[in-house]
Amino acid sequence: MPFIDVKNLSVHDPIQQKNLVANITFSLYKQRCLAVIGESGSGKSTVAKALIGLTSPSLEVKGAIVFDGEKLTSQMAQQWRGKRIGYISQDAMNAFNPIETIGHQMMETFQQHLGLRGKEGKAHAITGLERVHLKNPHQLMKRYPHELSGGMLQRVMIAITIMLSPDVIIADEPTASLDAYNRREVITQLQRLKEETGAALIIISHDLGVVQAIADELVVMHQGEMLEHHIAEKIFTSPEHPQTKHLLETRLRLSAPIEALRKQKRVRAFSC
Ligand SMILES: Nc1ncnc2c1ncn2[C@@H]1O[C@H](COP(=O)(O)OP(=O)(O)O)[C@@H](O)[C@H]1O
Ligand SMILES: [Mg+2]
Repeated sequence: MPFIDVKNLSVHDPIQQKNLVANITFSLYKQRCLAVIGESGSGKSTVAKALIGLTSPSLEVKGAIVFDGEKLTSQMAQQWRGKRIGYISQDAMNAFNPIETIGHQMMETFQQHLGLRGKEGKAHAITGLERVHLKNPHQLMKRYPHELSGGMLQRVMIAITIMLSPDVIIADEPTASLDAYNRREVITQLQRLKEETGAALIIISHDLGVVQAIADELVVMHQGEMLEHHIAEKIFTSPEHPQTKHLLETRLRLSAPIEALRKQKRVRAFSC
Protein backbone atom coordinates (compact mmCIF):
# COMPACT_ATOMS: atom_id res chain seq x y z
CA MET A 1 0.00 0.00 0.00
CA PRO A 2 1.42 3.44 -0.86
CA PHE A 3 2.18 5.60 2.15
CA ILE A 4 0.71 8.67 0.51
CA ASP A 5 -2.25 8.54 -1.82
CA VAL A 6 -3.56 11.76 -3.34
CA LYS A 7 -6.63 11.70 -5.57
CA ASN A 8 -8.01 14.64 -7.51
CA LEU A 9 -6.69 17.23 -5.12
CA SER A 10 -7.72 20.75 -5.96
CA VAL A 11 -7.30 24.04 -4.13
CA HIS A 12 -9.87 26.65 -5.10
CA ASP A 13 -9.76 30.38 -4.46
CA PRO A 14 -13.37 31.61 -4.12
CA ILE A 15 -12.30 35.24 -4.33
CA GLN A 16 -10.57 34.90 -7.71
CA GLN A 17 -13.07 32.13 -8.60
CA LYS A 18 -10.33 29.87 -9.90
CA ASN A 19 -8.46 26.72 -9.01
CA LEU A 20 -4.91 27.37 -7.87
CA VAL A 21 -4.21 23.66 -8.43
CA ALA A 22 -6.47 20.95 -9.85
CA ASN A 23 -6.47 17.23 -10.72
CA ILE A 24 -3.45 16.42 -8.57
CA THR A 25 -3.25 12.63 -8.33
CA PHE A 26 -0.24 10.59 -7.26
CA SER A 27 0.84 8.00 -4.76
CA LEU A 28 4.16 7.47 -3.08
CA TYR A 29 5.61 4.46 -1.28
CA LYS A 30 7.92 4.65 1.70
CA GLN A 31 11.63 4.98 0.96
CA ARG A 32 10.86 6.75 -2.29
CA CYS A 33 11.59 10.34 -3.20
CA LEU A 34 9.23 12.32 -5.37
CA ALA A 35 10.51 15.63 -6.68
CA VAL A 36 8.15 18.35 -7.87
CA ILE A 37 9.41 20.83 -10.41
CA GLY A 38 7.65 23.58 -12.34
CA GLU A 39 7.93 27.27 -13.03
CA SER A 40 7.31 29.80 -10.29
CA GLY A 41 3.58 30.15 -9.56
CA SER A 42 2.74 26.70 -11.00
CA GLY A 43 1.23 25.56 -7.68
CA LYS A 44 4.04 23.55 -6.04
CA SER A 45 3.83 25.20 -2.62
CA THR A 46 0.01 25.12 -2.75
CA VAL A 47 0.15 21.32 -3.13
CA ALA A 48 2.74 21.01 -0.33
CA LYS A 49 0.62 23.07 2.06
CA ALA A 50 -2.53 21.06 1.24
CA LEU A 51 -0.63 17.85 2.01
CA ILE A 52 0.16 19.00 5.52
CA GLY A 53 -3.14 20.74 6.23
CA LEU A 54 -1.70 24.26 6.16
CA THR A 55 -3.80 25.71 3.37
CA SER A 56 -4.90 29.27 4.05
CA PRO A 57 -8.45 29.27 5.51
CA SER A 58 -9.66 31.51 2.67
CA LEU A 59 -9.07 28.65 0.18
CA GLU A 60 -11.07 25.45 -0.37
CA VAL A 61 -9.36 22.07 -0.56
CA LYS A 62 -11.16 19.23 -2.38
CA GLY A 63 -10.19 15.66 -3.16
CA ALA A 64 -8.69 12.94 -1.01
CA ILE A 65 -5.34 12.87 0.74
CA VAL A 66 -4.59 9.56 2.45
CA PHE A 67 -1.55 9.01 4.67
CA ASP A 68 -0.78 5.47 5.79
CA GLY A 69 -4.34 4.35 5.03
CA GLU A 70 -6.03 7.24 6.88
CA LYS A 71 -7.80 10.13 5.22
CA LEU A 72 -6.12 13.38 6.21
CA THR A 73 -8.34 15.57 8.35
CA SER A 74 -7.24 18.90 9.78
CA GLN A 75 -7.12 17.35 13.25
CA MET A 76 -4.94 14.50 12.02
CA ALA A 77 -2.67 16.89 10.11
CA GLN A 78 -2.16 18.89 13.30
CA GLN A 79 -1.39 15.75 15.32
CA TRP A 80 0.95 14.27 12.73
CA ARG A 81 2.83 17.43 11.78
CA GLY A 82 6.31 17.23 13.19
CA LYS A 83 6.53 13.65 14.39
CA ARG A 84 4.98 11.80 11.45
CA ILE A 85 4.89 14.43 8.72
CA GLY A 86 7.93 16.68 8.59
CA TYR A 87 7.56 19.96 6.76
CA ILE A 88 10.46 22.10 5.65
CA SER A 89 8.87 25.34 4.51
CA GLN A 90 10.10 27.67 1.81
CA ASP A 91 10.16 30.49 4.32
CA ALA A 92 12.68 29.57 7.02
CA MET A 93 12.54 32.93 8.81
CA ASN A 94 8.82 32.67 9.54
CA ALA A 95 9.10 29.08 10.72
CA PHE A 96 10.76 30.24 13.96
CA ASN A 97 9.52 32.22 16.93
CA PRO A 98 11.57 35.47 16.91
CA ILE A 99 11.63 35.84 20.69
CA GLU A 100 12.94 32.37 21.63
CA THR A 101 16.47 31.06 21.11
CA ILE A 102 17.16 28.39 18.52
CA GLY A 103 18.10 25.96 21.28
CA HIS A 104 14.90 26.59 23.22
CA GLN A 105 12.80 26.00 20.11
CA MET A 106 14.66 22.83 19.18
CA MET A 107 14.46 21.39 22.69
CA GLU A 108 10.79 22.29 23.04
CA THR A 109 10.04 20.48 19.77
CA PHE A 110 11.97 17.38 20.84
CA GLN A 111 10.24 17.37 24.22
CA GLN A 112 6.81 17.72 22.66
CA HIS A 113 7.23 15.08 19.96
CA LEU A 114 9.85 12.70 21.34
CA GLY A 115 9.49 13.21 25.09
CA LEU A 116 13.18 14.19 25.39
CA ARG A 117 13.93 16.49 28.33
CA GLY A 118 16.93 18.47 29.57
CA LYS A 119 20.29 17.02 28.62
CA GLU A 120 18.75 14.41 26.35
CA GLY A 121 16.92 17.05 24.32
CA LYS A 122 20.04 19.21 24.17
CA ALA A 123 22.19 16.31 22.97
CA HIS A 124 19.59 15.52 20.31
CA ALA A 125 19.64 19.15 19.14
CA ILE A 126 23.46 19.20 18.98
CA THR A 127 23.51 15.98 16.95
CA GLY A 128 20.99 17.50 14.52
CA LEU A 129 22.99 20.71 14.09
CA GLU A 130 26.15 18.67 13.51
CA ARG A 131 24.41 16.55 10.92
CA VAL A 132 23.70 19.63 8.81
CA HIS A 133 27.28 20.84 9.44
CA LEU A 134 26.41 23.95 11.44
CA LYS A 135 29.51 25.10 13.29
CA ASN A 136 29.69 25.75 17.06
CA PRO A 137 26.31 24.15 17.79
CA HIS A 138 26.45 25.00 21.52
CA GLN A 139 26.85 28.71 20.72
CA LEU A 140 24.30 28.56 17.95
CA MET A 141 21.66 27.22 20.30
CA LYS A 142 21.93 30.40 22.36
CA ARG A 143 21.22 32.64 19.40
CA TYR A 144 17.93 34.12 18.20
CA PRO A 145 16.52 33.54 14.69
CA HIS A 146 17.31 37.08 13.50
CA GLU A 147 21.00 36.49 14.30
CA LEU A 148 21.19 33.69 11.75
CA SER A 149 21.26 33.90 7.94
CA GLY A 150 18.41 32.45 5.86
CA GLY A 151 20.64 29.53 4.86
CA MET A 152 21.51 28.77 8.50
CA LEU A 153 17.84 28.86 9.52
CA GLN A 154 17.02 26.57 6.65
CA ARG A 155 19.62 24.10 7.93
CA VAL A 156 18.28 24.35 11.51
CA MET A 157 14.81 23.56 10.19
CA ILE A 158 16.22 20.58 8.29
CA ALA A 159 18.11 19.45 11.42
CA ILE A 160 14.90 19.54 13.49
CA THR A 161 12.97 17.64 10.81
CA ILE A 162 15.65 14.98 10.40
CA MET A 163 15.97 14.43 14.15
CA LEU A 164 12.20 13.90 14.51
CA SER A 165 12.61 11.04 12.02
CA PRO A 166 9.15 11.40 10.45
CA ASP A 167 7.50 8.89 8.10
CA VAL A 168 7.34 11.50 5.39
CA ILE A 169 9.17 14.75 4.75
CA ILE A 170 7.71 17.45 2.57
CA ALA A 171 10.44 19.92 1.74
CA ASP A 172 9.65 23.11 -0.16
CA GLU A 173 12.83 24.40 -1.82
CA PRO A 174 15.01 23.03 1.02
CA THR A 175 18.28 24.09 -0.58
CA ALA A 176 17.21 27.47 -1.99
CA SER A 177 19.46 29.65 0.18
CA LEU A 178 22.40 27.25 0.47
CA ASP A 179 25.78 27.24 -1.24
CA ALA A 180 26.94 24.22 -3.23
CA TYR A 181 28.69 22.53 -0.28
CA ASN A 182 25.73 22.82 2.09
CA ARG A 183 23.32 21.89 -0.64
CA ARG A 184 25.22 18.63 -1.06
CA GLU A 185 25.31 18.01 2.70
CA VAL A 186 21.57 18.60 3.12
CA ILE A 187 20.77 16.25 0.26
CA THR A 188 23.09 13.63 1.73
CA GLN A 189 21.28 13.87 5.08
CA LEU A 190 17.83 13.62 3.52
CA GLN A 191 18.98 10.64 1.48
CA ARG A 192 20.48 9.04 4.56
CA LEU A 193 17.20 9.46 6.43
CA LYS A 194 15.32 7.88 3.56
CA GLU A 195 17.66 4.87 3.49
CA GLU A 196 17.88 4.44 7.26
CA THR A 197 14.30 5.03 8.34
CA GLY A 198 12.40 4.33 5.14
CA ALA A 199 10.90 7.83 5.11
CA ALA A 200 9.07 8.96 1.99
CA LEU A 201 10.30 12.30 0.64
CA ILE A 202 8.53 14.95 -1.39
CA ILE A 203 10.96 17.60 -2.49
CA ILE A 204 10.05 20.73 -4.35
CA SER A 205 13.07 22.19 -6.03
CA HIS A 206 14.13 24.51 -8.80
CA ASP A 207 17.53 22.96 -8.63
CA LEU A 208 17.74 20.15 -11.14
CA GLY A 209 21.15 19.15 -9.77
CA VAL A 210 19.42 18.36 -6.48
CA VAL A 211 16.51 16.68 -8.25
CA GLN A 212 18.81 14.48 -10.33
CA ALA A 213 20.70 13.54 -7.20
CA ILE A 214 17.80 12.50 -5.04
CA ALA A 215 14.54 11.92 -6.94
CA ASP A 216 13.20 8.50 -7.81
CA GLU A 217 10.08 10.00 -9.36
CA LEU A 218 9.33 13.36 -10.81
CA VAL A 219 6.18 15.44 -11.14
CA VAL A 220 6.20 18.40 -13.48
CA MET A 221 3.67 21.12 -12.59
CA HIS A 222 2.40 23.72 -15.03
CA GLN A 223 -0.32 26.31 -14.36
CA GLY A 224 -1.74 24.38 -11.41
CA GLU A 225 -1.84 20.97 -13.09
CA MET A 226 0.43 17.95 -13.24
CA LEU A 227 1.94 17.84 -16.70
CA GLU A 228 3.93 14.62 -16.24
CA HIS A 229 4.62 12.04 -13.55
CA HIS A 230 7.22 9.35 -14.26
CA ILE A 231 10.40 7.91 -12.90
CA ALA A 232 12.89 10.77 -12.79
CA GLU A 233 15.31 9.30 -15.34
CA LYS A 234 12.55 8.96 -17.89
CA ILE A 235 11.60 12.62 -17.67
CA PHE A 236 15.23 13.72 -17.83
CA THR A 237 16.01 11.51 -20.83
CA SER A 238 12.73 11.69 -22.74
CA PRO A 239 10.36 14.43 -21.57
CA GLU A 240 6.93 14.16 -23.18
CA HIS A 241 5.70 17.74 -23.11
CA PRO A 242 7.32 20.71 -24.86
CA GLN A 243 6.83 22.66 -21.61
CA THR A 244 8.86 20.05 -19.70
CA LYS A 245 11.61 20.17 -22.34
CA HIS A 246 11.73 23.94 -22.07
CA LEU A 247 11.82 23.81 -18.26
CA LEU A 248 14.60 21.22 -18.25
CA GLU A 249 16.69 23.11 -20.79
CA THR A 250 16.37 26.40 -18.93
CA ARG A 251 16.90 24.93 -15.49
CA LEU A 252 19.74 22.57 -16.39
CA ARG A 253 21.68 25.55 -17.64
CA LEU A 254 21.14 27.28 -14.28
CA SER A 255 21.77 24.32 -11.98
CA ALA A 256 25.23 22.97 -11.37
CA PRO A 257 24.75 19.20 -11.38
CA ILE A 258 25.80 17.30 -8.29
CA GLU A 259 27.54 14.54 -10.19
CA ALA A 260 28.98 12.69 -7.21
CA LEU A 261 25.60 12.41 -5.56
CA ARG A 262 23.92 11.49 -8.76
CA LYS A 263 26.25 8.53 -9.11
CA GLN A 264 25.48 7.45 -5.56
CA LYS A 265 21.76 7.35 -6.16
CA ARG A 266 20.40 3.88 -6.44
CA VAL A 267 18.30 3.32 -9.50
CA ARG A 268 15.43 0.99 -8.80
CA ALA A 269 13.12 -0.70 -11.23
CA PHE A 270 9.86 1.17 -10.91
CA SER A 271 7.06 2.39 -13.01
CA CYS A 272 4.44 4.90 -11.94
N1 LIG B 1 -3.33 32.08 -0.11
C1 LIG B 1 -3.47 32.31 -1.42
N2 LIG B 1 -4.55 32.98 -1.89
C2 LIG B 1 -4.70 33.22 -3.21
N3 LIG B 1 -3.84 32.82 -4.16
C3 LIG B 1 -2.75 32.14 -3.75
C4 LIG B 1 -2.50 31.86 -2.36
N4 LIG B 1 -1.34 31.17 -2.28
C5 LIG B 1 -0.87 31.03 -3.53
N5 LIG B 1 -1.70 31.63 -4.41
C6 LIG B 1 -1.56 31.65 -5.89
O1 LIG B 1 -1.50 30.30 -6.32
C7 LIG B 1 -0.63 30.16 -7.42
C8 LIG B 1 0.41 29.09 -7.11
O2 LIG B 1 1.28 29.56 -6.09
P1 LIG B 1 2.39 28.66 -5.43
O3 LIG B 1 1.78 27.37 -5.05
O4 LIG B 1 3.02 29.46 -4.34
O5 LIG B 1 3.41 28.44 -6.64
P2 LIG B 1 4.90 27.86 -6.65
O6 LIG B 1 5.19 27.31 -5.30
O7 LIG B 1 4.89 26.82 -7.74
O8 LIG B 1 5.78 29.00 -7.02
C9 LIG B 1 -0.02 31.53 -7.67
O9 LIG B 1 -0.75 32.13 -8.71
C10 LIG B 1 -0.25 32.26 -6.36
O10 LIG B 1 -0.39 33.64 -6.55
MG1 LIG C 1 6.69 27.84 -3.91
